[in-house]
Amino acid sequence: MARLTIPELKSRKGPGSLVMLTAYDYPTAKLAAAAGVDVLLVGDSLGMVVLGYDTTVPVTLEEVLHHTKAARRGAPDVHLVADLPYLSDATPERALAAAERLVKEGGADSVKLEGPKIEVVAALVSAGVPVLGHVGLTPQTAASLGGYKVQGRGREEAAKLLEGALALEEAGVWGVVLEMVPAQLADLASRRLHVPTIGIGAGAATDGQVLVFHDLIGVFDRFKPRFVKRYLEGGQLIQEAISAYAAEVRAGAFPAAENAYEMDAEELEGLYGKE
Ligand code: KIV
Repeated sequence: MARLTIPELKSRKGPGSLVMLTAYDYPTAKLAAAAGVDVLLVGDSLGMVVLGYDTTVPVTLEEVLHHTKAARRGAPDVHLVADLPYLSDATPERALAAAERLVKEGGADSVKLEGPKIEVVAALVSAGVPVLGHVGLTPQTAASLGGYKVQGRGREEAAKLLEGALALEEAGVWGVVLEMVPAQLADLASRRLHVPTIGIGAGAATDGQVLVFHDLIGVFDRFKPRFVKRYLEGGQLIQEAISAYAAEVRAGAFPAAENAYEMDAEELEGLYGKE
C-alpha cells in the first residue's frame, strides 16, 4: 500500500471512508500499518497518554518531532500527520518553521493544527505544506472552552463552529477533525464541506473516524470519555503479564533452561581448571 496523496485523501467522502489512529512510536505505527489504517497521527495527545503530562499544553516541538520520526520508521507507507504543538502555530512564521522540521526531519506528510487559524493555514498551504484542520473541542485551549466538554450544542456556537470549518476548507486544508461535537452538527458539517471530516466524539456521519491508540487498547485510565471505545482491556492484560513475570522471577521459575545459553562442557572444564 502506498501513502495516500492529498487528492486521494480529499476524495474520501462518505461515512467510513477514512480510518485514522494516533501512533507515537515504531511498534504501534507498524501494527497500525499492518492493520490497514489509512492515516496515522502523531497527536500532541502523546503528552497525556505517553509522557504523563496533565494536558497537551507542555508538549514541545522536539517531543512531537522525536515521536514523528519513530512513527515514520514504523510505517513508511502510511500518510503521517504530525500535530503542531501549543503556540508553535501562533504566527505563520512560527508555524512554517515548525512544519519545516516536522516534514523535513520527522518525515510527516501533513501537519494538523487546532482552531480556525485561517492566516496560518493559508501560509502553510501556500508554502506547499498539506494541513489537516481541527475544530470543536481543541484540547490545547480546553481551559478557555470550559474544560473537556461538547462544543456547538447551542445554535450560535454551532453556526460559529461550522463557519470555522468552512473557512478552513477555503484556506486549503485537506480535511477537518471534528472533536466532541453533537452528531447532528457533524452530519451537517460533513455534508457542507467538500473535504473529508474526521470525527472523534462526533457521531457516525463524519467521513472518517480517529481514535487515540492508548484509548483503543485500554491503557489510558485517567479518564474515559463517552466517545472512547476500548477494543482491548490492554492495561489489565499488560499488568497481569508483568505480575506473572515478577512472580516467576521471585519463585525461580524464570528464566527456565529454554531461556538460557549453554557452554560446551570442555570449555567449562578448562575454565574450572583455571580457578
Ligand atoms: O492529539 C490528538 O491525538 C488529536 C486527536 C484527538 C484528533 O488531536
